[in-house]
Amino acid sequence: MTDMTKLAVLAEELKIGEYSRHIFLCIGDNCCSAQQGRAAWTKLKTVLKDRKLSLSSSPDACFRTKVDCLRVCQGGPILVVYPEGYWYASMTEDRIERFVDEQIVQGRPIDEWIFARNQLPKGSAENPPKT
Ligand code: FES
Repeated sequence: MTDMTKLAVLAEELKIGEYSRHIFLCIGDNCCSAQQGRAAWTKLKTVLKDRKLSLSSSPDACFRTKVDCLRVCQGGPILVVYPEGYWYASMTEDRIERFVDEQIVQGRPIDEWIFARNQLPKGSAENPPKT
């Protein structure tokens, strides 16, 4: 089996191509403590699994990725969700359940936790690039 074939098999197992959203959570030590980051990541995995949004093929299925830095480096844990492109601050464990229920399940952004927006893709009729 070639490397590309192995990757294609892995991508199929991970259901890459079926997800509606991708959530990145920064647990890097420049924006939160290691304990805060680990707790938030564990809670995110648990809540997504509980809501059947992890490794499922529901319309709201989410791919999740923990990262070491999103270049903000303060007010973390920082979380960004695509395609909406909402950047959330202070996403500690206690905020994760509300985030999943309101932002992901209901599609209602939590404005008071969002500090930046960068909806993708740029260039669509709903989201034209700035000139
Ligand atoms: S360490 Fe979290 S954004 Fe840089």
